[in-house]
Amino acid sequence: MNAPFVIVIFGATGDLAQSKLISSLFSLFRKNQLGKEFYIIGFARRKFTDDEFRTLAYENIKQHGSSLNHWEEFAKNIYYQPGLFDEVQGYEELIKRLNAFDKKMGACITRLFYLATPPNNYSTILDFLRKTKLSEGCGQGSSKWTRLVIEKPFGKDLETAKSLDEKLSKIFEEKQIFRVDHYLGKETVQNMVVFRFANGIFEPVWNKNYIDHVQITFGESKGIGGRGAFFDGVGMLRDVGQNHLMQLLTAVVMEQPKSFSKEGVRDARAAAIKALRYIDPEEVSKSVVRGQYQGYKKEKNVNPNSETETFVAMKTFFDNDRFRDVPFYIRAGKKMPKDTVEISIVFIQTCHLLFREFGCPEEGNILKIRIQPDEGIGIRVIAKAPGSRLSLKTVDMEFTYKEEFREVVSDAYEKILLDIFAGDQMLFNRSDELSYSWEFITRILQGWDLQSRLPNFKIPIYSENTSGPKEANELFEKDGRKWLE
Ligand code: BG6
Repeated sequence: MNAPFVIVIFGATGDLAQSKLISSLFSLFRKNQLGKEFYIIGFARRKFTDDEFRTLAYENIKQHGSSLNHWEEFAKNIYYQPGLFDEVQGYEELIKRLNAFDKKMGACITRLFYLATPPNNYSTILDFLRKTKLSEGCGQGSSKWTRLVIEKPFGKDLETAKSLDEKLSKIFEEKQIFRVDHYLGKETVQNMVVFRFANGIFEPVWNKNYIDHVQITFGESKGIGGRGAFFDGVGMLRDVGQNHLMQLLTAVVMEQPKSFSKEGVRDARAAAIKALRYIDPEEVSKSVVRGQYQGYKKEKNVNPNSETETFVAMKTFFDNDRFRDVPFYIRAGKKMPKDTVEISIVFIQTCHLLFREFGCPEEGNILKIRIQPDEGIGIRVIAKAPGSRLSLKTVDMEFTYKEEFREVVSDAYEKILLDIFAGDQMLFNRSDELSYSWEFITRILQGWDLQSRLPNFKIPIYSENTSGPKEANELFEKDGRKWLE
């Protein structure tokens, strides 16, 4: 059970707080996982009262169709502090509230500051946390009781990520900083380390001698919805490429951690990202494709001349012994035909060695890891179709979480929050992991910058309900391969 805590959510009326954080906290409360004493304080610009903020949260949860049993008991723990991020007044009032909670409890309770605002506010909020000494917790100069939670995107490129990190490290110790990438909290992503290293049968073939290539698809059927103001300045590469895709790649590429401990796992993840082969900015057009869905420019709060990408596909490599020269094809897009996040490990086709004249299926063995939805893992193998003549056919062996565990997979944010309460940083990025991924991503951004300066450059447009611009297929086809549907 958790010790008492207070979580202050900056940006509490925004999309992330409303669609994920408060509902996950409520779900944990209903599962009896929040402990007896806790306080949630929403901090944002709008002038709400505590009750008005509770109503906003209630309506949002209702809209998502979740059960509202026990809402009243939960809502008693929710408060609201209006304030501008760049004015001291709101912070000062926040201090009074926090002190009142400490007084009520007769002790310094752990303070968690969750930055769930657009990233351009991070620096300002951090400055005020420092100036008002909120960062020090409980007013007696000890930072022991505070934790800082910061959402992606962490910076806009390598340089800004580094300066944000410098600022953070001047205010907080590393053990207090939780850099969130909720993909690390997904059940299916956590399972990758178990699946690969707890089973002896995969490790021997998990390398360039057996694997032809790896494909990762991150498809979302929705567009940007009401997030234009955030998304238009960010784009798909920074929004999901620099982080969520990186976690999926890492789960495939990393070596067995030296120990299943916070640093053991983070070391293994960092080494994997470090092995990414950089793409030279001048060469970006050869292996990276971007696109924008039709109608994006007319979305609310989007610049009508925007060149922001809502789709990105690339071919990339890892320079390590395990995967040297194995291509990784990755694509991520909005308004794709379906919601699907999956990793396919495509093994080298060996069927023809013996069965060439009987006709081998086009693809050999494929291991498909379905991150979401229909969480599970499938293995495609070649079998003899029943009958007197020899004929080969692919068949799928499937494991699904739904059938096997008979419970709904919890939202990743529940796991993320529980780990923050427990002070466990294994599923949070260390600063070196982020620097390595920015090293890679920043070169692509520089390449795009060069492209955009060409006189006739126009970002390729794709129709909704399609898998991105045709150039994304060409990435594959020129290698004689294709995306698995
Ligand atoms: C967020 C991105 O981090 O992840 C969104 O900002 C994206 O653009 C979302 O839609 C995807 O998360 P999930 O858990 O719905 O797959």
